[in-house]
Amino acid sequence: MTTVAATPPLLTATGVTMRFGGLTAVRSCDLTVHERQIVGLIGPNGAGKTTLFNCLTGLYTPTEGTVTYRGTRLPAKPHLVTQAGIARTFQNIRLFPSMTVLENVLVGRHTRTKEGLFSALLRGPGFRRAETASTQRAHELLDFTGLHGKADHLARNLPYGEQRKLEIARALASDPGLLLLDEPTAGMNPQETRATERLVLAIRDQGVAVLVIEHDMRFIFNLCDHVAVLVQGEKLVEGDPRTVQSDERVIAAYLGTPYEGAPGQAEASEVEAAEAEAAEAEAAEENESR
Ligand SMILES: Nc1ncnc2c1ncn2[C@@H]1O[C@H](COP(=O)(O)OP(=O)(O)OP(=O)(O)O)[C@@H](O)[C@H]1O
Ligand SMILES: [Mg+2]
Repeated sequence: MTTVAATPPLLTATGVTMRFGGLTAVRSCDLTVHERQIVGLIGPNGAGKTTLFNCLTGLYTPTEGTVTYRGTRLPAKPHLVTQAGIARTFQNIRLFPSMTVLENVLVGRHTRTKEGLFSALLRGPGFRRAETASTQRAHELLDFTGLHGKADHLARNLPYGEQRKLEIARALASDPGLLLLDEPTAGMNPQETRATERLVLAIRDQGVAVLVIEHDMRFIFNLCDHVAVLVQGEKLVEGDPRTVQSDERVIAAYLGTPYEGAPGQAEASEVEAAEAEAAEAEAAEENESR
């Protein structure tokens, strides 16, 4: 783990709210990711985690709130967000299934190549140089993500776990400063999950900050410097893994058990007290009748 307090903020979301008609999927959410930090975003199904990602990456325009990256406000346009330095993967894998593994990575690379359309059409020396460099970088990323030897396979023929790795390789191809991963180990076996943990650490060691949504708590608490918990669209708790792990509100949110001060808890306590009183009275009555 890194000490992060000293590193400057990379991503800052302030008061982000996302409403769909009458449903508020994300409510007044603040979130900060610092340089070289791995931040976990957890919460039960439907908590609003993916919606928050979509707000951070320009897929949605938040109903309220702002998102800044390196101090500059981000426009709600995915390609401009990628250009600014944020890359992501998707909960539901989004690859080009009929393209090869290498081509999928090259697609992710295009935001970083300066060669324009005419240069590409004319296939001049500038284009060829850029193409060679991009291809070399794409191969490096395939090695890095554990897809060595798969360059010419069609994306759709890769096993599920490798498709998730390919999504990461493609995201890294845009040379991001921040990588957002939406459930990177979903559908993976334990070995693949451990390999993905090592990959995320290696990504951070290359200077890329990571914001990751995961339901695998071992993954989250092993990796993250900081964890934020989203429940019903609101950030319930955040802190270091140990603090979050032992917070009774977090445990309750996952197990569905009430905690002190929870909505409805006062009524539940009253009912409990009344039941205890009734039981006592009954016991006293029984004693008397003996
Ligand atoms: N485009 C949309 N239009 C309307 N409602 C939406 C839309 N996207 C998400 N929602 C709703 O917003 C809420 C939050 O959904 P979201 O997908 O962000 O949750 P999540 O935390 O990512 O859940 P999971 O862990 O299951 O992936 C849900 O009630 C969902 O039905
Ligand atoms: Mg989701």
